Amino acid sequence: MHSIWLLPMIFSFLPSALGVIGPPANSSTNSTLLNPILPGFHPDPSCVFVSEWNNTFFCASSSFEAFPGVPIHASRDLQNWKLVGNALNRPEQIPDLAITNKSTSGIWAPALRFHNGTFYITTTLVFDDQPQTNLSRWYNILLSSNNPYNESSWTDPIHFDFVGYDTSLFWDSDGSVYVTGSHPYNLQPGINQAPISLTTGAVGSITNVWNGTGGLAPEGPHVYFKDDWYYLMIAEGGTGLNHEEDIARSRNINGPYESNPANPIVTNANTSAYFQTVGHADLFQDANGNWWGCALSTRSGPEYIVYPMGRETVLTSVTWASGKFPVFTNVSGTETSWPLPPSDLSIPGSGPFINAPDAYTFPPGSTIPAHFAFWRLPISQNYVVSPSERPNSLRLTASTLNLTGYDGNYAATGQTFLGRRQVDSFFTYSVTLSFAPTAAEHEAGVSVFLVQSHHIDLGVVLLPSSSTSTSSANDTALTPYFRLRTTTSIPVPAPIQLTPVPAAWIQPNAPLELRLQIQACNLTHYAFGAAPVGAAHEMLTLGYGEAAAVSYGFTGTLVGVYATTNGGEEGGVEAYVGDWRYEGMGQVRD
Ligand SMILES: *[C@@H]1O[C@H](CO)[C@@H](O)[C@H](O)[C@H]1NC(C)=O
Ligand SMILES: *[C@@H]1O[C@H](CO)[C@@H](O)[C@H](O)[C@H]1NC(C)=O
Ligand SMILES: *[C@@H]1O[C@H](CO)[C@@H](O)[C@H](O)[C@H]1NC(C)=O
Ligand SMILES: *[C@@H]1O[C@H](CO)[C@@H](O)[C@H](O)[C@H]1NC(C)=O
Ligand SMILES: *[C@@H]1O[C@H](CO)[C@@H](O)[C@H](O)[C@H]1NC(C)=O
Ligand SMILES: *[C@@H]1O[C@H](CO)[C@@H](O)[C@H](O)[C@H]1NC(C)=O
Ligand SMILES: *[C@@H]1O[C@H](CO)[C@@H](O)[C@H](O)[C@H]1NC(C)=O
Ligand SMILES: *[C@@H]1O[C@H](CO)[C@@H](O)[C@H](O)[C@H]1NC(C)=O
Ligand SMILES: *[C@@H]1O[C@H](CO)[C@@H](O)[C@H](O)[C@H]1NC(C)=O
Ligand SMILES: *[C@@H]1O[C@H](CO)[C@@H](O)[C@H](O)[C@H]1NC(C)=O
Ligand SMILES: *[C@@H]1O[C@H](CO)[C@@H](O)[C@H](O)[C@H]1NC(C)=O
Ligand SMILES: *[C@@H]1O[C@H](CO)[C@@H](O)[C@H](O)[C@H]1NC(C)=O
Repeated sequence: MHSIWLLPMIFSFLPSALGVIGPPANSSTNSTLLNPILPGFHPDPSCVFVSEWNNTFFCASSSFEAFPGVPIHASRDLQNWKLVGNALNRPEQIPDLAITNKSTSGIWAPALRFHNGTFYITTTLVFDDQPQTNLSRWYNILLSSNNPYNESSWTDPIHFDFVGYDTSLFWDSDGSVYVTGSHPYNLQPGINQAPISLTTGAVGSITNVWNGTGGLAPEGPHVYFKDDWYYLMIAEGGTGLNHEEDIARSRNINGPYESNPANPIVTNANTSAYFQTVGHADLFQDANGNWWGCALSTRSGPEYIVYPMGRETVLTSVTWASGKFPVFTNVSGTETSWPLPPSDLSIPGSGPFINAPDAYTFPPGSTIPAHFAFWRLPISQNYVVSPSERPNSLRLTASTLNLTGYDGNYAATGQTFLGRRQVDSFFTYSVTLSFAPTAAEHEAGVSVFLVQSHHIDLGVVLLPSSSTSTSSANDTALTPYFRLRTTTSIPVPAPIQLTPVPAAWIQPNAPLELRLQIQACNLTHYAFGAAPVGAAHEMLTLGYGEAAAVSYGFTGTLVGVYATTNGGEEGGVEAYVGDWRYEGMGQVRD
């Protein structure tokens, strides 16, 4: 059947061709701010404003098992954000990411700071299957850069001992440096702090500075010094619907800290807002001295059932009067904010603006774009740009493991997968696929991938001809099928759908030449389709996947390509991907 793919009818924002947002209406009056500023899988944001670097704002966010890790986005106008590099961009920086087990493991909550000409990041490589008391569950690291536009400038990490996560640096006026972090929540939950050496990672004696206001999981601490007070701001309530941000202050860095009577200072808990889970905030000032808060939020509504993009980065205005606690503006999709700086897109670096469309043909001499992501460390020979036998394509060599890997938890031998973040409520993603499978279960395709235990795949797979009832039950010859299948723990309708590749699309003794497509056709469903290359009018809708099936955990969806032998020979087959396109088709903000 031919499909009619209806475009979503309700757009609250239509990106221009370049996907950038126009200048604020009037820089001397309040502005209209659109959230999220970093849509898609960009949780646990930490941002700084650096006047020395042409009045530029920089934000880091969590990457969990995605690699490269810790994306750094830069902006001069707080609305147009460009990926300028990934702090963890060399496998040698975090070799043990390859052996993390469990989908909640990996790189958690980087804190980005700028001090005396240098950028610093503290973050934790978490082995979330290990006991909370085990120091090796919390592999805390410190890295620095003297030029965030140059990925190679990020140093190899220095490891430091800290039982916990969400570590953040603070420089006191006497020159001493502290690390503040969250102590595991099923031990004595609280915020711990210690002096740290930035050169050796040596950590001094630990002080338990605050336990928060009594909410679950006090975490994500940052310390600020203002008007002779040390302010300690933390998240509580867990990163779900009860998430909130709280603050306390003290005349001494090590406390005692007194809680702000007006806590929580920002939350959307117990509201009907579309933007839920607001918390894990950080504070910074712009060139005019106005304060801003970044935080994470989930576009889920209080139902909290459909949120495939997971925890995204939002921005809000903050008023912080002298001697007083800061006051946040509630987070929503369209806010009146402090005047935004004038629009300025002249940010250095080769990465794309976050809402720019993709159009990649993998020509000779090109490299894999900086916003593409592998799951854990890539087996590098499995990804070849423009191989000599087929220039202008990306060659994927199939891994034994499929996207589920071993039991949905680990994949130490590698999974052949390459994706990019879903950053739009509605989008169309498509690639060409040239594939000549030779054995049963040889498979290549496209996926909406959240984690190994939650993904929706449209694969082209070789199966016995008897796999569908229309075939002779005795026919053991192998035939290519489209297989749409959902892997999830969430109770949604998800039958495996097998559709034989139409005979007219198969040329004798030649690879299949197909275009595969994923479209977020409405908020609750992804539509999966295929057509012969060069015959888009023949596009078949093969089925739908439920966005609820990939709304889970700490991360957000990637859309991308994969190749696997489903337990067969490692490297048993190759697939060639070309003409990679992703285009946003609208954001829902309310
Ligand atoms: C911008 O705001 C200022 C102060 O309210 C006002 O004087 C000016 O006319 C406004 N400019 C524009 C272009 O609206
Ligand atoms: C600031 O911007 C100017 C003009 O674009 C550029 O020449 C200069 O290198 C920039 N400096 C920094 C530190 O980014
Ligand atoms: C990962 O966890 C699973 C489930 O607990 C366990 O069976 C497996 O052995 C673990 N793998 C590794 C490499 O630790
Ligand atoms: C700041 O950096 C400069 C140049 O790297 C260095 O000479 C100086 O000692 C640093 N100052 C402090 C207070 O660390
Ligand atoms: C602590 O973690 C390490 C590394 O993951 C592991 O080898 C060790 O068995 C763990 N120890 C305990 C007591 O669980
Ligand atoms: C980027 O940083 C690396 C490592 O510090 C350095 O070798 C290289 O020269 C830098 N490149 C540029 C263009 O600054
Ligand atoms: C945090 O809670 C523990 C256990 O109740 C208590 O011993 C400790 O004093 C508390 N810390 C602070 C800073 O109040
Ligand atoms: C939301 O409501 C629940 C139940 O009444 C309450 O326990 C929780 O503290 C509230 N959260 C916030 C942030 O108000
Ligand atoms: C401008 O925005 C700030 C921050 O949201 C707010 O406090 C202030 O009331 C606004 N001013 C006007 C005139 O709307
Ligand atoms: C398969 O073929 C054999 C031999 O022709 C026949 O006896 C048998 O009934 C067939 N089985 C099915 C399920 O059609
Ligand atoms: C979204 O699309 C799916 C697939 O076409 C359809 O079943 C569902 O009813 C749609 N939902 C809405 C709210 O239109
Ligand atoms: C993944 O591969 C295994 C065999 O290694 C197979 O049992 C499983 O069904 C496959 N699952 C998916 C969703 O690809």
